[in-house]
Amino acid sequence: MIPELELNDGFGIPAVGFGTWPMKGAEATAATLTAIEAGYRLLDTALVYDNEDAVGEAVRRSGIRDELTVTTKIPWDRLAYEDAREAFRESQAALGLDRIDLLLLHSPGREGDLYREAWRALVDLRAEGSVRSIGVSNFTPDQLRRIVADTGVVPAVNQVLLHPYQPQREVREVHTELGIVTESYSPIDLNPMHPTDLLSEPVIVEIAAAHDVTPARAVLRWHVQQSLLPIPKSGDAARQRQNLDVFDFELSSAELDAISALERTDH
Ligand SMILES: NC(=O)c1ccc[n+]([C@@H]2O[C@H](COP(=O)([O-])OP(=O)(O)OC[C@H]3O[C@@H](n4cnc5c(N)ncnc54)[C@H](OP(=O)(O)O)[C@@H]3O)[C@@H](O)[C@H]2O)c1
Repeated sequence: MIPELELNDGFGIPAVGFGTWPMKGAEATAATLTAIEAGYRLLDTALVYDNEDAVGEAVRRSGIRDELTVTTKIPWDRLAYEDAREAFRESQAALGLDRIDLLLLHSPGREGDLYREAWRALVDLRAEGSVRSIGVSNFTPDQLRRIVADTGVVPAVNQVLLHPYQPQREVREVHTELGIVTESYSPIDLNPMHPTDLLSEPVIVEIAAAHDVTPARAVLRWHVQQSLLPIPKSGDAARQRQNLDVFDFELSSAELDAISALERTDH
């Protein structure tokens, strides 16, 4: 069993999740099924990933839908109130699920403040019972404060790009203040569009060796030990298991600090 973090709406959420982008079709279904078999109970998809049908298929075939926390996201170009609601209905249909466990705004968008309307749409969807928990992604501290001031409703999570090179200290401070769980995307900094050599950093290789774990496990442990919720993606069953196997060793505070010292201000 994976430990859980508590959300500010009273629900629990698994402390590690499974990223599904950029997989699609049969590959996404097969990988999601092996991830569920490995023990993942939090799945991360989005309307723009164009794989909700494949993820939904895996959810049905798993036979344990009620044990899963299925996350999807409203696209950044669908933020007007009715557009957001319509995008949600498309996600529901693609996933083949009536109820979504965690619905996020994928991004506040580049211009304007339509995200404020979209947040109202999420608040209403939750009140109507279609969604269990609501949150955001890629929101800045100011944007978080604005939607909380508008509605009085604090997002349960903010999913942000976060790994040792880019630890997002500023937004995490606001999360702590408001009671928002930090979800880390690209947690090992291997986004296929711009992967880095994070896992080859000597300090990480050394710490991993000291605990007899892989560099990926050491980095994921760095997240988990700080109550950051990483959602690594892997299409490979062995790496999926490895990425979840981060609860039986502990990094010292000196090791956590050494990994945190990799922070880059130019990243
Ligand atoms: N909210 C947003 O704006 C946003 C943006 C980007 C991503 N995301 C979400 O976050 C998830 C994860 O982010 P990401 O895919 O960008 O980056 P990531 O999880 O840091 O890296 C994924 C890459 O790492 C490889 N990998 C996985 N486990 C490994 C291991 N133990 N050792 C070595 N390599 C390993 C994978 O290859 P294999 O598949 O071959 O193992 C894949 O190429 C996405 O799937 C998506 O759900 C959200």
